[in-house]
Amino acid sequence: MDKKFYITTPIYYTSGDWHIGHCYTTIICDAIARFKRMEGMDVFFLTGTDEHGQKIEKAAQKAGIETKKFVDEKVEKIKNLWKLLDVKYDKFIRTTDKQHEEIVQKIFKTLYDKGEIYKDSYEGLYCRECEAYWTESQLKDGKCPDCGRPVEKVKEENYFFRLSKYGDRLIKYYEENPNFIQPKSRQNEMINNFIRPNLQDISVSRSSFKWGVPVPFDDKHVIYVWIDALSNYITALGYGTENDSLYKKFWPADVHMVGKEIVRFHTIIWPAILMALDLPLPKQVYGHGWLLIGGEKMSKSKGNTADPLILSGRYGVDSVRYYVLREVPFGSDGEYTLEAFLNRFNTDLANDLGNLASRTTAMIEQYFDGIVPKRGELNELDHSLIDMTNGLYEEVKANIANLQVSNALSNIFKVASRANKYIDETTPWILNKNGDKERLGTVLYNLADTIRVISILLSPFITTAPKQILNSLGIKEVPTLFEGNVECGKLKEGTKVTKCNQLFPRFDIEKELTEVDKLLEQNKMKKEEENNNKKEQITIDDFAKTELKVGKVISCEKVEGADKLLKETVDLGNGDIRTIVSGIAKSYTPEEMVGKKVVIVSNLKPAKLRGIESQGMVLCAVDEKGNPILVSPEKEVNEGSEVR
Ligand code: MSP
Repeated sequence: MDKKFYITTPIYYTSGDWHIGHCYTTIICDAIARFKRMEGMDVFFLTGTDEHGQKIEKAAQKAGIETKKFVDEKVEKIKNLWKLLDVKYDKFIRTTDKQHEEIVQKIFKTLYDKGEIYKDSYEGLYCRECEAYWTESQLKDGKCPDCGRPVEKVKEENYFFRLSKYGDRLIKYYEENPNFIQPKSRQNEMINNFIRPNLQDISVSRSSFKWGVPVPFDDKHVIYVWIDALSNYITALGYGTENDSLYKKFWPADVHMVGKEIVRFHTIIWPAILMALDLPLPKQVYGHGWLLIGGEKMSKSKGNTADPLILSGRYGVDSVRYYVLREVPFGSDGEYTLEAFLNRFNTDLANDLGNLASRTTAMIEQYFDGIVPKRGELNELDHSLIDMTNGLYEEVKANIANLQVSNALSNIFKVASRANKYIDETTPWILNKNGDKERLGTVLYNLADTIRVISILLSPFITTAPKQILNSLGIKEVPTLFEGNVECGKLKEGTKVTKCNQLFPRFDIEKELTEVDKLLEQNKMKKEEENNNKKEQITIDDFAKTELKVGKVISCEKVEGADKLLKETVDLGNGDIRTIVSGIAKSYTPEEMVGKKVVIVSNLKPAKLRGIESQGMVLCAVDEKGNPILVSPEKEVNEGSEVR
């Protein structure tokens, strides 16, 4: 067995927020990486962020934040998300890492020097949103086939990669390596839809924006996203640097896990770049399907996303991990609904696993004072459970080798379900009533031993409950998958067992759906309110338009018929005396106001309030109850002093 294993997720764009669809790719990779580690393999699991490009530049501008700061904040967020979901990567690569940028430039230069990249002028149909050129025939109803927005005719000088010359070599590679593209159907799609019809050279630079890695010998251009992004899989290993031991050890990757929409880039462009660099090709690209909502891909612009933070906050991280790994047959699309999520929770986690663990440990506590009993003679019924449990590792292993994670989980839960049935068949409470302690001990030993095996095998997929179950069986560390640890009979007799309390309390689905609807509606309103209150950033010139001065209140009175308003006469120095109406009567009496130095917006257009012309505005802070608190100079200053 090859003892090394290198698995990668795509690097995520830092332009939006991440939904459960993104978590899907990462959790699958994490589960596979954990499984291989438990098998004793030397694993390198890479994830990261794709941070360059016009979309991100624009998103930062829209947020009014400097681009690097914008991506830094996003990276912080995604790292927290992976921490929350218990994703244990070995390296997090950012395309803004200095080392990555330098090597990308080196790669670009090498390809240029070899004649694989050339400069040409290009006229094409360009989608600004997707930063992509399309041919007439690729358009859908005359619009961008990816985002549906209008395209425009653009003429630019660009650098091009000679992709067109790699068509035959790619097809030959696919044929000689039948596992390279998985699932198999995607291979035909690549050949028939992209390579055979007309594989063209691709543009690999842009001059219309700046947020990217500069072409090393032409600073008018930045390197366009694919050479930059795809190279992450080798730059993360130190390729092209003096410290390239990880590259030497782990390249070529065992699996690039990607969503189906980016299979094309990973199985055509990336291998061609590697061929042009004379580097080995990854062993496999797995194009998984999408998690859909209402039949459509989740996306922020469609507003149909499911938030992993809400789901894991309410139902626990295990249930989010379990749902994404279990619900979608790998390779195909799967439809997300909260109802399906809760059904999975109730049926598998609460009923099958949670119940099994709590019933078994409770009976050991009740009948054997919490001590693992001795296993006596085994009968046919025992053997049927033991054989099934003993065969589980091989089944799971075979499914993981084919990246069929959902099937692997189905194998595990079949054993859990069988063990629940074993309880009903052996009726331990009757054995106890009849005083058949030896048989009762054997039954409970078999059950505890089975949940031990199930928990070990489950621990790469869901990370909390299996550990709790093992702890309750007196096993402090999750054992490896070798040395017979997942064979029956390894549970030590005499071990102290503690009761495993309800790990997954069942949900009343109807009630839960109504409550979540309410919660989502509240969140939506809160967000809308926050957005409405959020002020656009202004420049110093914008601010300079506001004239602020210190004024002294020389007289003050209530405004008839308005219990919130006071009318002040304010001296702004140099004979500038103003009448100002302000909504501060709930916090200050007219007497208190007289003599106070306050800050006035002195160039505010006069406005009538209750028939009185107010010639400025008194500045106030607002406390948590909404009460105005006057803003005053901290030391004595003359009236008329500027505030800036
Ligand atoms: N930055 C590129 C990838 C470059 S890799 C060298 C990118 N980023 S992405 O953020 O848009 O998508 C990252 C991954 O998330 C893709 O594999 C994509 O398929 C996956 N998903 C995004 N939405 C998804 C679903 N609704 N369902 C499943 N996976 C989804 O593409």
